[in-house]
Amino acid sequence: MVQVSLQKGAIEAAKDKVIVVNLFEGVAKPGGATGAVDKALGGMISEIISSGDFKGEWGQTYLFRTFGKIPAERVLLLGLGKQKEFTKDRIREAAAKSSNVLKKAKITAYSTIVHGAGIGGFDAQTAGEAFFEGLYLGAYSFDRYKTEKKEENGVPVEKVTVLERDGNKVRILEKSWARAKILAEATNLCRDLVNLPAQEATPTYLASVAQRIAKENKLKITVYSREEMQKLGMGGVLGVAQGSAEPPKFIVLEYGGGRKGEKPICLVGKGITFDSGGLSLKPWDFMVDMKEDMSGAAAVICSIQALARLKVKANVIGIAPCTENLPSARPLKPGDILKTFGGKTIEVLNTDAEGRLVLSDGLGYACSRDPQAIVDIATLTGACMVALGRKATGVMGTDQKLIRKILKASGQTGDQVWQLPLYDELSEQVKSNVADVKNVGGRYGGAITAALLLKKMVGDFPWAHLDIAGPAFTDLAPDGIKKEYQPVGATGVGVRLFVNLVENWNTKG
Ligand code: BES
Ligand code: ZN
Ligand code: ZN
Repeated sequence: MVQVSLQKGAIEAAKDKVIVVNLFEGVAKPGGATGAVDKALGGMISEIISSGDFKGEWGQTYLFRTFGKIPAERVLLLGLGKQKEFTKDRIREAAAKSSNVLKKAKITAYSTIVHGAGIGGFDAQTAGEAFFEGLYLGAYSFDRYKTEKKEENGVPVEKVTVLERDGNKVRILEKSWARAKILAEATNLCRDLVNLPAQEATPTYLASVAQRIAKENKLKITVYSREEMQKLGMGGVLGVAQGSAEPPKFIVLEYGGGRKGEKPICLVGKGITFDSGGLSLKPWDFMVDMKEDMSGAAAVICSIQALARLKVKANVIGIAPCTENLPSARPLKPGDILKTFGGKTIEVLNTDAEGRLVLSDGLGYACSRDPQAIVDIATLTGACMVALGRKATGVMGTDQKLIRKILKASGQTGDQVWQLPLYDELSEQVKSNVADVKNVGGRYGGAITAALLLKKMVGDFPWAHLDIAGPAFTDLAPDGIKKEYQPVGATGVGVRLFVNLVENWNTKG
């Protein structure tokens, strides 16, 4: 991760070659830290504004020379847009934006103020958290397989010095910084796991990462092998794993930061380390990104790491059923019937609808732990992406209070989460003639019928389901429009959302 330091001091006196300050749209005379730099520069910023070259529009940047008037050789002006449109997520984006712009200019170290506090209207803690998250998340890159480091696209920023002149605020920012670092580290680890090719990120590898997290944070962990799953009757995972030579793993990672005896919150993540579709093989252009099909499992494992490091007061069990979905000489076949951990049977009509098969075991296992609530997360359906686009997570469930909590958390983390209706009438579409349920629900309402199958596995426990098929992975525009703090590839969606959800579990409203 990028090296960050926080110091008490005035930005206009910073010794780095570049300093970063900001401006809201429509402000003629800058105040605060930007005002101080303007003054030290003899009104250069005011002049640039009145010339019309820089208006402070959202996303606008302006890099100019200081000609020896202050120690820094250049100033980067960052437009924050209209003040009434300013949000916490824009603070994350603004923080990442300065690194992205300076990367292109091949500047590897700079000093900056925290955007959004003061004139921005956010308190130092909130602004600080979003700012440091944005810095760390934006500086992420997955380049370990690149043997030629080309400089034409820029040079990554290595060092960022954050300056704040108010000592009290520095102390508040120190706390925000520590917290944001933990959240960003977990998110970036999640991104790594998803970005790793399927040849590397196997179920065994995911289990080893979970084991490392358990060891580092003194957590309880259980990893069930194929043989143990057979004894436990986890027919869903085993059915999907049938076509793969790679051993499946059922990972249970437990964090006990809450009261003794307090019922756990169970998080269940789909862990298909590669989804070829199985015998119901995907066309190649639908298969290319299918290493991402374990994004749910990665989000669950990594959010447990963050919860433990943040010492959140809650008992949380992370559950990740992991396997590949491949065709072979002895594969799962359309028409096969699987018996899941909870005892329910599923007729498999399409082996590409495998997520709901492994999740059925995950959810059944979650029920066996007598949880206060269950939340699952999965790159489950193309249909959800058709409905909501490439950026939004679909949420469905049986407990509106839980869903409200999730929607509230998403407002804090900058995730787009939208509720889809879990119409019971559509259950007709997953009725089977020979088993309790079938794994395809016809052409229409695919995200909902998938969720309705899952609903059958959770009994009366409060439950919500997150379909992240869209936002788990981003590529280039137009439909993969990315945020400044989301480099191309895995986004790590779910990690910050889960942490926020668990942290605010008992907050009213
Ligand atoms: N992993 C896919 C869903 C997916 C698609 C995730 C695109 C991310 C991007 C899932 O296993 C799948 O193939 N679902 C099928 C279900 C259908 C066969 C009922 C789908 O959505 O087409
Ligand atoms: Zn599939
Ligand atoms: Zn899948």
